Amino acid sequence: MKLPFAEPYKSKTIEIIRTSSPAERERWIRDARYNLFNLPSDQVYIDLLTDSGTGALSDRQWAAMMTGDESYAGSRSFDQLRDTVEELTGFRYLLPTHQGRAAENVLFSTLIKAGDRIPGNAHFDTTKGHIEFRKAMAVDCTIAEASDPTCIHPFKGNVDLAKLRSELENHRDRIPFIIITATCNTAGGQPVSIRNIREVHGIAREFGKPMVIDAARFAENAWFIREREPAYSGRPMREIILEMFSYFDAMTFSAKKDAIVNIGGLLALRDADWYQKASVFNIMFEGYLTYGGQAGRDLAALAQGLRESTEPEYLEARIQQVAWLGQRMKEFGVPVLEPFGGHAIFVDALRALPLVSREQFPAQTLAIELYKEGGIRTAEIGTLMADRDPISGQNRYPALEMVRLAIPRRVYSQNHMDYVAVAAANVMERAEKITSGYNIVREAPILRHFTVELEPA
Ligand code: F0G
Repeated sequence: MKLPFAEPYKSKTIEIIRTSSPAERERWIRDARYNLFNLPSDQVYIDLLTDSGTGALSDRQWAAMMTGDESYAGSRSFDQLRDTVEELTGFRYLLPTHQGRAAENVLFSTLIKAGDRIPGNAHFDTTKGHIEFRKAMAVDCTIAEASDPTCIHPFKGNVDLAKLRSELENHRDRIPFIIITATCNTAGGQPVSIRNIREVHGIAREFGKPMVIDAARFAENAWFIREREPAYSGRPMREIILEMFSYFDAMTFSAKKDAIVNIGGLLALRDADWYQKASVFNIMFEGYLTYGGQAGRDLAALAQGLRESTEPEYLEARIQQVAWLGQRMKEFGVPVLEPFGGHAIFVDALRALPLVSREQFPAQTLAIELYKEGGIRTAEIGTLMADRDPISGQNRYPALEMVRLAIPRRVYSQNHMDYVAVAAANVMERAEKITSGYNIVREAPILRHFTVELEPA
């Protein structure tokens, strides 16, 4: 028999997690105002809220932390990280930041002004938030296939070239840059092909526009390129990654994902002039140029994490674990988004809970049901997260209303995945009895899903 693929690591330290009763969870979620962000973590059994900052560090990362150089300026850990980033991505200039959105803040402070338009593939919510905060607009140019949860397409994160071109033709003077998010979290953790990146780059050059990559899950994106893009089949990961980045002028990076650290971010740039401009904001918002809100030991763990997350054995185990969960859920009749994403399985809440009206937040309703069923915490990626239209003040109804089950890196076992799949199947079994959702009691003007308070409709 062919040996199955198994994780290229084993546990050295473990953390106890506790189960709870349905009655306890019923009470806890009510006390949390039906917002899963409000739950204390000990009221959660399996936490799939995010894959961000929740990964398990390796012994080598912990060891690297002991070598961290805590000098305010000229830290050796910074130099080592800068060299690692340059080797992996080709970007020469590096600014550490406290996390990904901070890199967005620093870069956008130098590039975006009121009235601008930023085309890209389904911007992540903090990216959109930082654009809209500056009275500019995020223009979604993702391919139409991305909004059909059953459509099988190898690169559903791709940019629609015709949409992008028409945006550039109509608003050329108001577009400071194009941004590509890889993998595209908002579209379901879907990858972007190198061919698409190259074509976008061609259009960008034609119109004289720079390109920025939101690279939070760049290694997972590169893995999908190797698996699905024939020209890159079997090519070394590092080669694919270098080529991927070669089309971009800058990267914003949340190190909490594919660098497998608990906190941290980076802004990497190709151009000295951009670096000089961004440095001013980095010092103001983040800290001096060689630490930017991170400890020296954080920088050391980050560099080691980047080396580990770009290893093919790691990536294969990672992507397979997520696909395992997706496959089990699919077999149980749960309407999951396909192809499965790199970091998460997304459930189509409109098909899962067809009796809950859009105004009552079906994805949030499903997330609450999953919690009540199994103590599983997930995230709504739907109308709550989409916020209100900044001009009309009306709810925005995105094409997809989804619940995201994000899998932390190197944390949960296959048994945990099976438990989650069965819990989801149990919710589906009583879906016809779930006829109403939730109403908003209180909400913030931007990024409302983090703090929203709800009550049953
Ligand atoms: N870009 C993408 C694609 C992201 O997924 C995130 C964070 C960010 C930027 C911002 O990075 O959190 O370090 O400030 N995503 C997390 C998530 C929060 O759960 O998907 P950050």
